[in-house]
Amino acid sequence: MYLLAFETSCDDTSIAIFRNRELIAMKTRSQIREHNETKGVVPEVAARLHANNIFGVLEEVLKEANITLNGINKIACTESPGLMPSLLVGISVAKTLAKTLKIPYIPIDHIEAHMFANYIDRETTDITFPSICLTVSGGHNELYLWKSMFEREKIGETLDDSAGEAFDKVAKMMELGYPGGPIIGKLASEHTSKFQSIFPKVLLDKNNHNFSFSGLKSAVKREIDKRILDNTFLSEQDIREIAFEFEQTVVNILSYKLFHAAEKYNISSIVLAGGVSANDRLRETIEQIAKEKGYSFLAPISKVYSQDNAAMVGILGQYKTQKIPN
Ligand code: KG4
Ligand code: ZN
Repeated sequence: MYLLAFETSCDDTSIAIFRNRELIAMKTRSQIREHNETKGVVPEVAARLHANNIFGVLEEVLKEANITLNGINKIACTESPGLMPSLLVGISVAKTLAKTLKIPYIPIDHIEAHMFANYIDRETTDITFPSICLTVSGGHNELYLWKSMFEREKIGETLDDSAGEAFDKVAKMMELGYPGGPIIGKLASEHTSKFQSIFPKVLLDKNNHNFSFSGLKSAVKREIDKRILDNTFLSEQDIREIAFEFEQTVVNILSYKLFHAAEKYNISSIVLAGGVSANDRLRETIEQIAKEKGYSFLAPISKVYSQDNAAMVGILGQYKTQKIPN
C-alpha cells in the first residue's frame, strides 16, 4: 500500500511516500532563505511560496520513489494546527488529488504527527506506554500524557510563547538570523564558562505543568539592552554567553516540568517531539535524567524528523489506516 503525505503547516513544503511503514522518498523545500529577509514567517508569503513549490516537490518525490500518481493508494495531509494560508495550499492539493484518483484522504493533526515522528524507522513496540511526551516547537509547546498509541491527554501547555518562538525571538534580538534555534544552539555550544543562571526561570511550581517563556524573553532583551548601553555594542563573547545562558535556562525549565509530570503520572517512557527536540543540549540533558530515573527515552531518530516534515504525516497516516504489521 502506497501512501502520499503532505505537510505545509508553516514554512516547509514537504511531501513523502511510504510503502506500508517504510519511508521510500521524501522531498522538502525550505523557505528559510525567503523568511530570513523578514526575520520571521509572514503567513501570506509562506502560502504563496507553498503554492509555487508544491507541484515541483511532488514531481521530485514521485521520481525518487519511482512511482506515478496512479500507483498511490491513499493520501494524508496536515489539517491543523498551523498557519491557515499555508495549511490551505497542502489541503487543497491533497484533497483534489484524492478526489481525482478516487482514493481515501486522511486528515492529520500536526502535533500528533510530531509525536508519531518517533515511530519513523522504529518498531511499533519501541514506544512503551504510558509515556510523557514533550511536544516543543515554534508553533506549540505542550506536555501530553500518552496513554496508548491513539489515546493522549494534554496535561500542560504554554501560556504565552513556545520555547521555539523564544529561540527565534532571542536570535532576532541579537540579529543572528532565522530560524533561531539551530543558530543559538551552535553559539551556546561555543561558550566555555559555567552556567551562571543570569535569567529567571518562570512558573516552576511542581503541580503546574504549564509553561511561560515571555518573561524569560523580556529578561534576555533587558540584558542585551544593558550590555549595549554599557559598551555600545554586543561582543561575540556577549552573544555566546547570552545564547548559552538562555538555552540552558530553557532546557532547565522544560526538563523540570517534564520530570515532575513523569513522577506524578507514574509513566514508563519519556518522548520528545517537535522542532526544538533537535536541540542537542535538550536531548542530552533529558536522556541523562531519564536514564538516572529509570525511564526509557526516545527522540526522533534523525533531526529531520524533529522539524516539520511529511514523513511524520505519512507514518501517522499509515498507523491510522493500516492496523496490520509491516
Ligand atoms: O516543528 P517545527 O519545524 O515547526 C513548528 O511546528 O513550529 O519547529 C520549528 C522551531 C523553530 O522555532 C526553531 O527555531 C526550532 O524549532 N528549532 C530549534 C532547533 N532546531 C529547530 N530550537 C532549538 N534548537 C535547535 N537545534
Ligand atoms: Zn511543527
